Amino acid sequence: MVQRYDAVVVGAGGAGLMAALQLAGHGNVAVLSKLYPTRSHTGAAQGGIGAALGNLEEDHWEWHMFDTVKGSDYLADQDAVEILCREAIETVYDLEHWGLPFSRTPEGKIAQRPFGGHTKEFGKAPVRRSCYAADRTGHMILQTCYQQCIKHDVHFYNEYHVLDLLIEQGRCAGVVALCLATGEIHTFHSKAVLFATGGCGKMFRVSSNAHSLTGDGMAVVYRRGIPLEDMEFFQFHPTGIYKMGILLSEAARGEGAILRNKLNERFMERYAPTLLDLAPRDMVSRAIYREVREGRGIDGKNYVHLDMTHLGKKVLDEKLPDITEFARTYLGVEPLTQPVPIQPTAHYAMGGIPTDHEGRVVMDEKNTPLPGLYAAGEVACVSVHGANRLGTNSLVDILVFGRRGGRHAARFIHENDWAPLPADADSAARAAVSQVLNSTGKERAADIRDVLQDEMMDKASVFRDAQGLSALRKKLGELRERYRQVKLEDRGTCYNTELLEVIELGCMLDLADVLVEGALAREESRGGHYREDFPKRNDQNWLKHTLAYNTPRGIELKFKPVVITKFQPMERKY
Ligand code: FUM
Repeated sequence: MVQRYDAVVVGAGGAGLMAALQLAGHGNVAVLSKLYPTRSHTGAAQGGIGAALGNLEEDHWEWHMFDTVKGSDYLADQDAVEILCREAIETVYDLEHWGLPFSRTPEGKIAQRPFGGHTKEFGKAPVRRSCYAADRTGHMILQTCYQQCIKHDVHFYNEYHVLDLLIEQGRCAGVVALCLATGEIHTFHSKAVLFATGGCGKMFRVSSNAHSLTGDGMAVVYRRGIPLEDMEFFQFHPTGIYKMGILLSEAARGEGAILRNKLNERFMERYAPTLLDLAPRDMVSRAIYREVREGRGIDGKNYVHLDMTHLGKKVLDEKLPDITEFARTYLGVEPLTQPVPIQPTAHYAMGGIPTDHEGRVVMDEKNTPLPGLYAAGEVACVSVHGANRLGTNSLVDILVFGRRGGRHAARFIHENDWAPLPADADSAARAAVSQVLNSTGKERAADIRDVLQDEMMDKASVFRDAQGLSALRKKLGELRERYRQVKLEDRGTCYNTELLEVIELGCMLDLADVLVEGALAREESRGGHYREDFPKRNDQNWLKHTLAYNTPRGIELKFKPVVITKFQPMERKY
């Protein structure tokens, strides 16, 4: 079945919806989404969107830029960060004008609160920069952007899973997708495709990511020869619900919550004397792991406490209603009177599909674009987060670069015709699906996924070293062998979620390989990538981006320089 659209957006989180809005009215536009759009993972960004509005105190986009660059451990491209921080401001006002119900100051301005790593005067003290709608900011962004898309007649294909990217004569020609309701394979022939499929945090056991975050877009593009950038950098958010990983927003610490060990010590005093609990996430996550390793986890276990008991009912009810309810529901803990057990949780891929500032996917270290192909949001790497993302900056990223990508794609579809579509455009996708459906092997996908998640958590999370990563590389090879023998119990066509899980597992295995290859190669510690055998940052050898290519010989790494404009790399102290 072939459908023809001027532009196809894959993914309906904040980046996809924002891009679709820019394309609306410029041609016929389809959004393919694995989920119903408002269930997308943007909803998990609870605590706010960073923008230097200065509503409660003086603030400037240059301060935001400095914090983002320093937070990134100087790996972010500073020209991109400047765009991010400048355009954050108008983006937040756009959301306000579209009706997003922000929390308000008593005078009616958008309310703002502190968040990790966001400071005034280039690092002097925390600043209130995060614009929020209680602790449901991501949800509100989804609802607002989705309503705008409906108003502007964007056509949605909900519950369509992307299987393949079509490239013809050096141009993007569309995508192939699986309709989950019917099991039919559809080809979308289009002039422009924008990937906004989010991250891949489900490759780790303890994760804040929804079940759908399996890196589909990254894997599909990578398999077609486009490199992935900086995949070794994976962020662990300090405060996931113990064992479950469900996010408890950093906004809690923004409102004054404190991390405590079994001695009831505010242990962040030891690790970040100025910003304390509001240090960047890589540092706080490492601090929690260290406390646990040194025997100061609660009850000798691998968790610590998030103490909100002093914040009072009004603050919890008005500013943190969702996360306090999560603590009650999932842990049976009353945050008004009891500390909440937390542990770092796999949260965010800093790396992804490399793009330029217009969201165009680039294929090499010279930033050569692939005509018609775009990416934005967590699936992409522009790179504004470098080695470690600051909280609230993912929402800025998805909207600023979703908008830029959508606008550029809108011009592209006016100026270009469709690339030719071969008669058998969907053959690779059909063959892959049919191989899984007809496999006579004996392996269960869930068993393989369990091992993958445990091994990634054990050997590639907050602390890494060569020994663990090498063992993990070997284990991934074994898992891939087992994956070839995977079989299905369900060979039906209607909502075959088992088939979907097998396809998703294949994506995660590919991306785990890439992450491990980059992590082994990068013999230094920077941001979210901490090598115990190379505990120092090494700017001389490693102030550069990795580009991982899928080749017949295996993964090949190339490198790309970091763009430095205003801020020279310095030691990171908080
Ligand atoms: O903690 C949070 O509310 C998460 C926000 C983010 O990842 O930006």
